Amino acid sequence: MLMLKSGSPGKIRTQAIVIPVCMDHELYSDKAMSLLIEEAKKRKEFKGEENDELIFFDPPGMKAERVVFIGMGKLSGIKPESFRSLAGKSVRKCINKGLSNIIIAAPSPSKVKIEISAVLEAMLEGAYLGNHIFDKYKNEKKIKPLNRIGMLTAPAYEKQNQPFVRRVRAICDGTILARNWVSTPSNDKKPEQFARAVAELAGKEKIKVRILDEKEIKKQKMGALLAVSAGSSSNPRLLLMEYRPNRAAKNIVLVGKGVTFDSGGINLKQSGSIEDMKMDMAGAAAVAATLITVARLGLEKNIVGVIPIVENMPSGKATRPGDIIKSFAGKTIEIGNTDAEGRLILIDSISYAIKRYKPDMLIDLATLTGACVTALGEKIAGVFSVDDNLAASIVGAGEKTHERCWRLPLPDDYKELIKSDLADIKNMSSSKWGGAITAALFLAEFAGNTRWAHIDIAGPAYGKKQTAYCGAGGTGFGVRLLCELLK
Ligand code: BES
Ligand code: MN
Ligand code: ZN
Repeated sequence: MLMLKSGSPGKIRTQAIVIPVCMDHELYSDKAMSLLIEEAKKRKEFKGEENDELIFFDPPGMKAERVVFIGMGKLSGIKPESFRSLAGKSVRKCINKGLSNIIIAAPSPSKVKIEISAVLEAMLEGAYLGNHIFDKYKNEKKIKPLNRIGMLTAPAYEKQNQPFVRRVRAICDGTILARNWVSTPSNDKKPEQFARAVAELAGKEKIKVRILDEKEIKKQKMGALLAVSAGSSSNPRLLLMEYRPNRAAKNIVLVGKGVTFDSGGINLKQSGSIEDMKMDMAGAAAVAATLITVARLGLEKNIVGVIPIVENMPSGKATRPGDIIKSFAGKTIEIGNTDAEGRLILIDSISYAIKRYKPDMLIDLATLTGACVTALGEKIAGVFSVDDNLAASIVGAGEKTHERCWRLPLPDDYKELIKSDLADIKNMSSSKWGGAITAALFLAEFAGNTRWAHIDIAGPAYGKKQTAYCGAGGTGFGVRLLCELLK
């Protein structure tokens, strides 16, 4: 339970009140709060520097069991993300202490330079996301999420902002949905299982769901998608999710890469790069969770999710390097490397989506290339589009949600690199450099004139280590971003 609260800090009965403290500036207009912070700053170990921490137990005159002061550093360096992080870390600390209900004090509107609604939104998100624990596979659940988290704010905000809190909660629930799917091991998310799990949840919302099975995919002649799934004993699926509340509105299609395990196929990956490949369906998870979320929010936009789900495995039936296959669009493709499978399932999905839905805009999300991680690191996604406005709105939405995106180019002269001597195009670049770009250019060949953007989330979709408001595993990257973009 996450809610906004108001009232005097002394009167609140809770296990902990967490108070963010700035080094060089007051964050609260409340007198009692200022006195408390003054008291904390008298101690040598607490100056309000980032990550400073001080606890008062059973503070006199207060009903809270403890007050936890957490430093935020200097005011000038504070952004909404600082509050998101702080809320997440506070929740995590309290979880580790075994607590179950806490209050986090939000700063007073007049005391911060940032719009207070952005601060509150960030704090609510950080707290709610930080409270998520993926422990489905542990027999002994050593830590438990908090039962109640209250965000202490001015009375006016508490009343006005209940719909706002519901919205934040819905979007974070979507993010958590995506995280859980990505963290689920591949043995429990074969294409058929994963498609059904999504369909089951989507069926509870105003979403029309269709799942194409292998027979139907064959009938549609999606040769590129089928080439990837050929080696696996688990059959592919194409999941279609249609949310259309408004006949008059524009059509938006979201495509998400859903490789439930990417072994590399015959071009088998080595240890060091294979063990986390259950996460290769993070694009699919983000798209599916976004559709469920926009339906829950009742957004007045027509959004369709097109989600190819396959497993990329080596076997006697697997597609080989050198094979030439025919895509749904009719173009022939020479397979240079069976590990460049994401682009194959994406192009059949993109072509199908364009033909069937005639979208005004199409965005695909995919854990597409290691090269994108080399370029931008593990926290920033690559954005590709020839449409400046679309690229800018994606980057802008990412700034707002702190799912950072950086635009990379689609240079015409690099198209040389994916030419084939024998087929229309090759799935592998002839250069070892610029792999994120050549992968995007491959997709661009099939997007045609449709207003299209590609987001390569190979870096930020998954984290080996816990961060401020995300545990190890799937991060849910893309859900908040897409919800922000679509709203
Ligand atoms: N799923 C991988 C990309 C990836 C790498 C995702 C690291 C997350 C973390 C993709 O299918 C892949 O294998 N790409 C190859 C392409 C190459 C063979 C042209 C790569 O990046 O090495
Ligand atoms: Mn691969
Ligand atoms: Zn892959």
